[in-house]
This record gives sequence, structure tokens and C-alpha cells, in this order.
Amino acid sequence: MIIERNGCFLLQTLHTSYLFNILRSGHPEHLHYGASVISETQYEEFLKASSFGDGSESEAASVCLNNICYSLSEKHPAAGGNMISYSDDFPGIALEDLPLEISSFGKGDIRDPFILVTHENGSKTSDFTFEKASITNDIQAPSSLPGSYDDSVKISVGSSEDYAQQLVVTYKDKEYGTCLEVIYSVYPECDVITRRAVIVSANEKIHIDRIMSNQIDFHENGLVFTSFHGRWADEMHRTDSVCDGGRCVSEEMAAGESGSRSNPFVMISRKDTTEDSGYCYGFNLIYSGNHYEALSSNGYDKSRFISGISPATFGWTLNKGERFETPESIMTFDMNGANGMSRHMHDFVRKHIVRGKWRDKNRPILINSWEASYFRFTESSLLKLAKEAAGLGIELFVMDDGWFGKRDDDKSSLGDWYENKDKLPGGISGLSKKINDLGLMFGIWVEPEMVNEDSDLYRAHPDWAVQVPGHAHSKGRNQMNLDLTRTDVQDYVIESMKKVFGSGDISYVKWDMNRIFSDCYSKELPADRQDEFMHRYYIGLYRIMKELTDSFPDILFEGCSAGGNRFDLGILCYFPQIWGSDDTDAICRADIQRGYSYGYPQSTVGAHVSATPNHQTLNTVPLETRFDVASFGCFGYELNLCDITSSDKKEIKDQIDFYKKYRHTLQFGHYYRLDDGRCITVSDDGKKAIAFMLQRESRPNRDVVTLRTCGLDDSKTYHITNRYVDIDLKTMGSLINMFTPIHIKQDGIIHNIANSVVKVQNEREDMTAPGALLNRVGVRLRPKFGSTGFDQDGDKTGILRTGDSRLYIIESV
Ligand code: DGJ
Repeated sequence: MIIERNGCFLLQTLHTSYLFNILRSGHPEHLHYGASVISETQYEEFLKASSFGDGSESEAASVCLNNICYSLSEKHPAAGGNMISYSDDFPGIALEDLPLEISSFGKGDIRDPFILVTHENGSKTSDFTFEKASITNDIQAPSSLPGSYDDSVKISVGSSEDYAQQLVVTYKDKEYGTCLEVIYSVYPECDVITRRAVIVSANEKIHIDRIMSNQIDFHENGLVFTSFHGRWADEMHRTDSVCDGGRCVSEEMAAGESGSRSNPFVMISRKDTTEDSGYCYGFNLIYSGNHYEALSSNGYDKSRFISGISPATFGWTLNKGERFETPESIMTFDMNGANGMSRHMHDFVRKHIVRGKWRDKNRPILINSWEASYFRFTESSLLKLAKEAAGLGIELFVMDDGWFGKRDDDKSSLGDWYENKDKLPGGISGLSKKINDLGLMFGIWVEPEMVNEDSDLYRAHPDWAVQVPGHAHSKGRNQMNLDLTRTDVQDYVIESMKKVFGSGDISYVKWDMNRIFSDCYSKELPADRQDEFMHRYYIGLYRIMKELTDSFPDILFEGCSAGGNRFDLGILCYFPQIWGSDDTDAICRADIQRGYSYGYPQSTVGAHVSATPNHQTLNTVPLETRFDVASFGCFGYELNLCDITSSDKKEIKDQIDFYKKYRHTLQFGHYYRLDDGRCITVSDDGKKAIAFMLQRESRPNRDVVTLRTCGLDDSKTYHITNRYVDIDLKTMGSLINMFTPIHIKQDGIIHNIANSVVKVQNEREDMTAPGALLNRVGVRLRPKFGSTGFDQDGDKTGILRTGDSRLYIIESV
């Protein structure tokens, strides 16, 4: 709900309030964002007085809202020492020490600005003050960029109902006439508010040096800024910085994409916030290019959060009458720690970002050819892999890189999107038909934004590649970016992809993008507009993605950018899932996926079981652990199933049966992070849950482990079991001689025969407990092997070596 009375604005969601107030000077004072400041009765009264009601409580609502705003506004009698006093008419207004909705540059607010423009006269000073506001029950997305959308999800507040709404507040630069619209969308049911801005130059040509999407001023200092960083194949490491002074920044300023180095999702919390308690804000940006998120604090115990396009590499020239729109920024808040915040983010991403046929649909279990054979395959080797996959219950076969042009390694052919007939004599259509005949859906890999110098496309159109004419260029993975700022290049990509996607029965597309940017330049842009290159690239890319996803609504698209680059809400507006990382080592992946879980639901993260030793780390990880970790995402296998042992095949078949049974809870359940790297996903109705535990380091003589859950229904009673896996005899090493009548030589004939027929029993959990007990205290699990007290004939002791894991199945009785 959005309501305005006498210049006081309240944006209300189920559990949060956002308030600001237009001062007599016309500047918007930010009053509060966070925990709800009104009771449910007041919420209902406001709804009755607002556009959703009959206006019956209008007078009372005005008084109440004005009282709230007055209580929250800062009462400065005069500007502080050494501050700029705004004007003679308003000597008490010092913009440096006022929490603001937007801050412009040059009138006394010396903090990180929301907007910075250069006027025709060279001045950078602006002064935006309130002009007008309008509230609508319609959510308008940006016209050139992806945005959130509303499906009319309603909530009940007493006897009233609340829905998503949008507020547009227009400010005008007093001196130059430039208009700045700040657009808020309020999604009450998932406690999310979004913000974006539009600038229109009325009277002159201006240069935008920076324009942000969001600005939140906090009335406190010493907040914790949490951002997520890493590198290729090692993404999403949580980093906490206390902002006591100066500035904490998470930024991708030159990579040209939201990246593995810095994800646009960030959190702000207090020092005592935990996963389950305390104030926690979450912020994200619907954008895939260079981004900037910063929390700064000043000496007046104020903090400012700013987010938007990275100003470091951005600029935009606006001629008189032209407009520019920013990406949309997302924010949420919860009083119950990071888990509460994540729940809102997950709901929001699932309901208001991801769209189309696959939004709520269970995602198929896939086999991907990449780590199975890389570039070295033929139609017959792919079909062998597909046949094995079909026999195990896999549903979708994905042919990864290597099927087109003369692509036998990563040095050539990007851009030449026609089949390599040596590898695929029957083409895509022939192969897809044969795959379908095996009972599998067929999927394909593409990397449409790129070109190799060794390609027909580059030979025909060298000017389509991003490079500075007449100057040497650099490459990444031997390839160059296509100049998607150009409409003719966009059209080529659209047409060539339409041909590929229409050339067989294609159910899935993996859209890859394997290099960041260098030598940014477009021949089509004049010299004084080259700073627009990166943003124009994304406008072009989004046009392509929209056109293709609209033309192929049944295809399940998976984004990918060398694994976990470009894992962002811009991509998720078109593709419902994104490949999480090129690191498929389950132990590393457990951390990477935990990182994603702060801002993104499991249904958006592609996760696969791969071979062991792992191809990125050469670590050996048990098959069960590889499954347990990957099962908390859009699940698949990525290894050569023709090469594995029959006992592994049996295990995989069992994993697939298990995954199918619990797939919806694993992909779409309510996800919570638990202690010690554990997590749980709970079905919508609270009746089923799967919890995950990883043994990071096994030590002797430490056997009491408690499993405490989160998100179960306190009032339900649950039965707790574990996903049972038995253990190879050889796991026990020479210890088996403690139990055998004769001495068995390690790796001798008897040992090997015994190993193929005898299995060691692992533990079986079987407990029944109230949800309240599970959520608040936890159940004590069976002891794990710890050198003494092993129960060799039974199922009372668990074998949990370093790197072993467990799934616990928790079902209401
Ligand atoms: C990078 C991706 O992340 C991999 O999964 C694979 O598709 C390769 N590219 C193919 O070149």
C-alpha cells in the first residue's frame, strides 16, 4: 500500500514501513525504512483511506500519518558548524546532515551522490526539489531494461486487501528545469520495495556522470555491509565489513558484467545480527552490467547506501527533451536475521522476477556433455551417453560446446552457428530426434554474444567485434565480444539463434558468455558517447533475450557466464535458472551455493554431480556428497556415465528416484541456512523437509551431533529419517581385521572379493519429534564412528568421514 497525506508518504508492506516527507524547501527527507511502525489496525485504516478503500478513514489517516512523520523527522534548529546552510529562506537545512530520498551534488550534501550531471555551462551543481507525485495500482517496468512485474498477489489485512502499487515522485532542478522521477514499486506480500529513476532533460544538453537506482539513508552508524566476492570457479564468498567511517564498496566497474568478482546482491545488518535474529536488509539490482553498491558513514552517525550502474565507467549524454532510465533496485528487510531476509528475496525472485512457463514448474534432471567429453564427441558417443542417462531415469540431454563450425577446441568458430557435419551428420534435427526417441528431451549450448577471430563471421564482419579501430586488442578465452550496441549485430544474433532453436525439437538452451570486456568501443558511437558503450550493450542484449524468449516460450533457458558470472536478476527476468559455477567439486560448491542462497532461491541455481577426482580440484568426493549438494538446486549430472562402475550406476539410479520424489521441495521449498554450513528446505505446506549436513572435518571421539532445524511448523509432529547409504567394506581399511576370523590382507584377492559383496551398515535415523523441538532445540543424531564404540553388526553408528554428508528427511506424521 502507498498513501500520501500533506507531503508525507508511507509505503507499507506486511512487515515493513518506508516513510519520507517533503520539507518546506522541497527536499525529500527520508524518515525510515525497516520494521513496520504501524499496527495491523492502523494498516487496515490506511487501506480504507487509500485507493483500495472507500476513503472512509481519510481524516483519521491524515492525522495519523502526519503525526508519524513529524515524530520521525529530524528537528534541526540551525545548520551545524562548518556545514553549508541551504539558503537564506531555510537556514536550518543543512543537506549534509539530513537523511534524504535523493541527493544531488553541490548544495551542501557532500556524501556519495544519487545523481551527478554536468550542465551545458560546465557546472555540476543540481538542486532537485519536489514537483508532484502519483500513485497507481499498476506496475510499470522500465521500457529498455528488464523489471519486476506483478501477478496481482493479494494479502488480507483485517477485512481489507492489499496489492502491489507504484508511486512516481517527480523532482525538478530549480535552476535548469531537468526532471528526475523516482519510481517506487511496493510488493506487500513479500515485503519488497523497489526503486528506480528516470531523468528527462528539459532545457539543455546535459551529461549524466552518475545516476543511481537506490539511496537509503540510515539514522545510524557502524552497520555491517555484507557483499559476495570471488573469482572464476570460486564465487560468492560472503564478506562482512563494518562501516564505522568511510565507505564499503561492492563493485564491478570494468568487467562489463555482474560477476564472479562481485555480485550485485548485498546485505546491511547490525553487528549482532545472526542467521535467525536481528535486523537485516537485502538489496539487489535488476541489471547484468557494471554495478556499484556502497555503504558510507559520516561523523553525524548517519550511513548512506547507494546502488546502481557503476559510475566509474558510465556516462550518458542527454539532448534537450531526451530521457534516461536506470535499472530497478530491490530491497527487503526482516527483523529475524538473514534467513528472514532471504525468505523475502526468494519469494520475490520466484514471483516477481522469474516469469514464463517454467517459473513454477519442476525443472528436469539433465545430463550435460561438457565434463563428460568436452569438445571430443561424435553423434554416436553422445547417443551412448544419452542411452545410459535414459536408463537411469534422467529426463533431458544437453549437448554442450563443440557442435558447430569447426569447433574442436576453444580457439575457433564462435559466431558460426551451423552444425559441424563431421560430428553431427544428421545435424541438430537428426540428433534431437534420436535423443527424443530414447525418451529424453534435447537441449543445446550456445554462446551468442561472442566471436572468434578464426570464424566465418569475423572474416565477414571484423567491425562487429568489440575493439578500438587501429589499435591492438586483447582477448579472453581466445574470443572477442560482439558489439551488441549495434542494431545490425543484435539482428544477426536474433536471426542466427532463431535458426538454431528452430532446427530441431529443442527443449532447453544453455546460454553461455565466457569472457569479460576489454577494449570497449563501438564504431557506431561518436567519440563523446563512448562512455555509453557498456550500458548500450545491455540494452541490446536485453532486446535479444526478450525477442528470443518470447519467440520460444516453451524452451527452458539456463544462463551461464563461465559459471557464476552474470548471476543476477537481469538475467533471471529472461532465464529462470543460471549455472552456479564452473567448479563442480561438491565441497567447494556447498559454500558457493550457500553464498547464492542469501539472495537467490534454489530454483535459480544450476547444480550438477560430476566425476571424481573432480576436474577442477582433483579432489575425491563421495558420490553421495556430490548428490546431496547438487540436489539443492536445478539438478543434473555432468560426467561420462558410460565410464562409471555398475555400483555407481545403481547409486545414481537411486539418487534420481529420490530426487524425483522430493524434487518440488528441493527446488521450490522454503530454504533456510542452519549452523555449521547445514541447510534445510521446507515444503510450502510445512509437511515435508530435507535437511543437509556436511562433515567438513572428521575427528575421533566426538560423537554427539544435534540437528536443529528452521522453518518447520512448530505445531506439527515430524518423523526424521536419513537418506540411507551403505558403505564399501574397504572404507574400513585394515580395521576389518578386528571383526574377521582370519587376517585379510589389504587389497588382496579376499579383500577385493569381500568388498564387492559385503557392505558395511551405516546409521539409520528414526525419531519422531514436535516441530517446536526441532526448530528450537534440535534432535540428537546417532553417533558417528569415532574410533571406539563402533556397532559393526547394526545400523546405530554413522560413518561420516571428512567430506561425507547426509540428507535428513523430515515428514509430518
Ligand atoms: C563455460 C561453462 O560454464 C561450462 O559449463 C561449459 O559450458 C563451457 N563454458 C563450454 O565452453
